[in-house]
Amino acid sequence: MTRSMIMATLLVAATNSYAGDNNPDLGKQEYQKWCTPCHAPGDQYPGTLALRAKYKGALPDVLEQRTDLSPEMIKYFVRNGITIMPFFRKTEISDTELNAMADFLTKQPTKP
Ligand code: HEC
Repeated sequence: MTRSMIMATLLVAATNSYAGDNNPDLGKQEYQKWCTPCHAPGDQYPGTLALRAKYKGALPDVLEQRTDLSPEMIKYFVRNGITIMPFFRKTEISDTELNAMADFLTKQPTKP
């Protein structure tokens, strides 16, 4: 990683933590930052593949397409992790950011 990339990353992190409740895209931004490396649509994402194997087509393999997730369930998995999914600390994803993410995943389901 170059020095300027590190600075850019720090800047994004700082911007996000100040965005708070006034940023309607916060949940989506946090989801794309932390979760899509494993949960994006496609065969190269371990979260997507694990959920495909778990539900065998009964539910979508992509979290954004699920309509059955509750905020409590999302927060539980994010704070506790499961198998290869790490848990996330409040210094990584704050409660405000986690609430926004749970809202994003439960209130705006995109059907396949
Ligand atoms: C390192 C890869 C990885 C990252 C990063 C990751 N996950 Fe996961 N996640 C997984 C895997 C793998 C599973 C399935 C575990 C299993 O086999 O039950 C999973 C399962 C879940 C589940 C449970 C779904 C179900 O029906 O069982 C939720 C909810 C979830 N992840 C949310 C998130 C959120 C929100 C983020 C971002 C904060 C995130 N994950 C980041 C890999 C990841």
